[in-house]
Amino acid sequence: GWEVADGPELESEWYNFDALNIKPDHPAREMQDTFYVEPKNAHLLLRTHTSPVQMRAMLTRELPLYIVCPGQVYRTDELDATHTPVFHQIEGLVVGENISMANLQGTLQLIVQKMFGQDRSIRLRPSYFPFTEPSVEVDVSCFKCGGAGCNVCKKTGWIEIMGAGMVHPRVLEMSGIDAEKYSGFAFGLGQERVAMLRYGINDIRGFYQGDIRFSQQFK
Ligand code: DAH
Repeated sequence: GWEVADGPELESEWYNFDALNIKPDHPAREMQDTFYVEPKNAHLLLRTHTSPVQMRAMLTRELPLYIVCPGQVYRTDELDATHTPVFHQIEGLVVGENISMANLQGTLQLIVQKMFGQDRSIRLRPSYFPFTEPSVEVDVSCFKCGGAGCNVCKKTGWIEIMGAGMVHPRVLEMSGIDAEKYSGFAFGLGQERVAMLRYGINDIRGFYQGDIRFSQQFK
């Protein structure tokens, strides 16, 4: 029952930040973090995450909502082995009646098993995002050592792979959804990061250099 939702890469400041309960003084809003587009008073930017699609979907689709949104995102990061100014995320959003943290947990568990194998389990750690409450960081049990501790999981047995949480009531209300009646969960993960872990790629620049030997190694 999931649908693929889409949003623009050139996004308004409102969808990218305000609609996600990210306040005007949040550091991510600074020029050093975000590519703004001229003229400044147009309040347009290259989206810094796929989360703005959450509000776009809530405003245009019927409940219950089950969407995933894969897409390109932009941050003014220096190019190095683990950062590129352009990368990809996958966002997920569910909104409906009686949606609980247990539904989030079950969904994440399934995603992780499909991506990293049937034997993988997840661990949720408390975290903070302005648009979810409560918020969690999601770890997957290490697919290389199975949890014993190795170089991939830095001897912890767990690998952090995404952020998630229950949609903040303020975010629901901003889209006109009754937060007393409906609830939801959301998650977001970095595609390159997952692929790098999965295939043991140690330099993110390989994805963008266009060297055919890079992609051919996965044949
Ligand atoms: N948008 C966040 C980021 O780019 C990732 C994220 C965290 C998305 C929690 C979510 C979420 O939907 O619930 O860092």
